[in-house]
Amino acid sequence: MSFWPLFPKSDYVKNLELHAHLNGSLSRSTLKALGCLDNTIGTYQTVETNLDDVFSLFQVAHKATRTIDNLLYATRKVIEEFADDNVIYLELRTTPRSEEGMSTEEYIETVVKAVRSVGSGKILVKLLLSLDRRRSMEKQEEVLDLIIGYKDKYPDLIKGVDLSGDPSKGAFFKQVFEKARKHGLYTAIHCAEVKNDEEVKDIIEFKPDRLGHGTFIHPQYGGSLNIWEVYKQKEIPVECCLTSNVICKTSKSYKQHHVQEWIKESLPFCLSTDDKGVFNTSLSKEFQVVQENFNLTQEELWKISKNSVEYSFASPEEKQFLIFELEQWRNKNIPNR
Ligand code: IMP
Ligand code: ZN
Repeated sequence: MSFWPLFPKSDYVKNLELHAHLNGSLSRSTLKALGCLDNTIGTYQTVETNLDDVFSLFQVAHKATRTIDNLLYATRKVIEEFADDNVIYLELRTTPRSEEGMSTEEYIETVVKAVRSVGSGKILVKLLLSLDRRRSMEKQEEVLDLIIGYKDKYPDLIKGVDLSGDPSKGAFFKQVFEKARKHGLYTAIHCAEVKNDEEVKDIIEFKPDRLGHGTFIHPQYGGSLNIWEVYKQKEIPVECCLTSNVICKTSKSYKQHHVQEWIKESLPFCLSTDDKGVFNTSLSKEFQVVQENFNLTQEELWKISKNSVEYSFASPEEKQFLIFELEQWRNKNIPNR
């Protein structure tokens, strides 16, 4: 029997969310508050879709956050909702963009302002800024230069760069990420969401700080033995987003999700929501799904959260604090381990 429902919500495992896209995380109620009509959100919340559909669905959220006020409101809401789900540390990522009446700089400043305005007592928030893989190398570098400037302005908040966007389009440019690394930015790269052996190998060899998804790496899940061997030498933490992968049909089912190979071989991974609004999920649901499908104990689930501290981009002092919080929770809730 699942232990999870036995816990009242306030006693759920305290969690760390390391892979959440801001605009994909907008909940139904936030979208409605921002004027989205029921029928557009209806499609947005679909449970049967594929990667192409999902990428057209992001436009709904992008329309909702095209003004400074709306973006401020939406960002605050996303943070509050993660905090309500017992997330104590959140790395939120977003693609800086301009709109009529909002420059790219204003977009970044607004997200920073929203993070600063949410009380730090309950949840610690860091930002990753995303490069869209559909953009040319020159454009990605241009955005990176802007990000480097903001990292220098807000060093305790802007921690890294992500590469995301439609995985069937665009490219990973190693020199862009080498520059990011040279400027002290952490790197988190969406990798192997679809089969693309050559790119996957290039990314793994670059050894980013974390990989997003990592679906088509293991030979049993469409990768190759060679890539898997290279991956195992590098041991890069993978951000596993089970519901996202199942809904996008890049994983056949929860039971057939590649996370089990990471569990079996004690390889580094964390659990994440990806786009909690689009996929109608939450981090506690992702933990529940893993517990139910792979029969993990409370202690093993707790260990996933604890390991995430190590993979996070928090400072050493912040990591110490997070470990303390998790240990307090464990002493109270898993006394007989
Ligand atoms: P935003 O960056 O805050 O605008 O969040 C939405 C954006 O995140 C989308 O337009 C995509 O570029 C990116 N994104 C969200 N989910 C995924 C994913 O699963 N794979 C790749 N990119 C994604
Ligand atoms: Zn993602």
